[in-house]
Amino acid sequence: MENSLNGRKALVTGGASGIGAATVRALAARGAKVVVADVNEAAATALADEVGGSAWAVDLFDTDALQSLSLDCDILVNNAGIQRISPIEDFDPVDFRRILTLMLEAPFLLIRAALPHMYANNFGRIINLSSVHGLRASPFKSAYVSAKHGLEGLSKVTALEGGAHGVTSNCVNPGYVRTPLVESQVADQAKVHGIPESEVLAKIMLTEASVKRLVEPEEVASLVAWLSSDDAGMVTGASYTMDGGWSAR
Ligand SMILES: NC(=O)c1ccc[n+]([C@@H]2O[C@H](COP(=O)([O-])OP(=O)(O)OC[C@H]3O[C@@H](n4cnc5c(N)ncnc54)[C@H](O)[C@@H]3O)[C@@H](O)[C@H]2O)c1
Repeated sequence: MENSLNGRKALVTGGASGIGAATVRALAARGAKVVVADVNEAAATALADEVGGSAWAVDLFDTDALQSLSLDCDILVNNAGIQRISPIEDFDPVDFRRILTLMLEAPFLLIRAALPHMYANNFGRIINLSSVHGLRASPFKSAYVSAKHGLEGLSKVTALEGGAHGVTSNCVNPGYVRTPLVESQVADQAKVHGIPESEVLAKIMLTEASVKRLVEPEEVASLVAWLSSDDAGMVTGASYTMDGGWSAR
């Protein structure tokens, strides 16, 4: 495991926080040179310095700029994401569009930018941070669930096109992970479900799972690192759940 990614160049979007930051550390620990791509420049730079990688300060909402991009990474982790919680009838259309832009259109544009280099090397690993919400729905998350279901489709098409060129594409599908994204939605979940914040974990986030705890970012990162390795060459077009049994229902 130690040097399983020696010589590989990786790019992790949303790499400055949560699952992305754990993934940056996991890939770097296995020998990869990692680009931390994030809108939070200070945090991206600090983490890049920590792991001997580099930072790319990028706002992935700026899809115009991504259209002419060319990437020379061997491993692309599409991870940047946000959340909005609201019933459909109140859901701000601007927020809906922004979530689809960041979590579906930007991954498409980054895959598009990375494939020529991967095809030329006959090697590539694309890992898309989907969610249990790429496979199951929850109320009040129309944009997020739509974007993640779309990402599942994009990942499978990439797998079919990339197979002949040594490129795999897979989704990782965690349940609730202990990150700032989850911490910041507790208040909104309490409001929309009409329960106290102290009950959100037990009554909303962990009801469907068999293992009653949050996923740790490092657990997700270790799966991403394995999918990035040579060992996972026959794994493509797949969606690997890490949801404590939620989707077994
Ligand atoms: N936390 C969970 O419970 C959970 C569960 C399943 C899937 N996921 C998915 O995992 C991914 C990471 O989530 P997380 O919980 O680690 O989130 P997080 O909020 O901890 O980190 C997200 C990162 O994305 C960056 N980002 C946001 N908007 C950006 C933009 N426009 N351009 C560039 N970077 C931007 C942020 O600066 C931040 O560093 C997301 O795609 C999320 O949907 C999270």
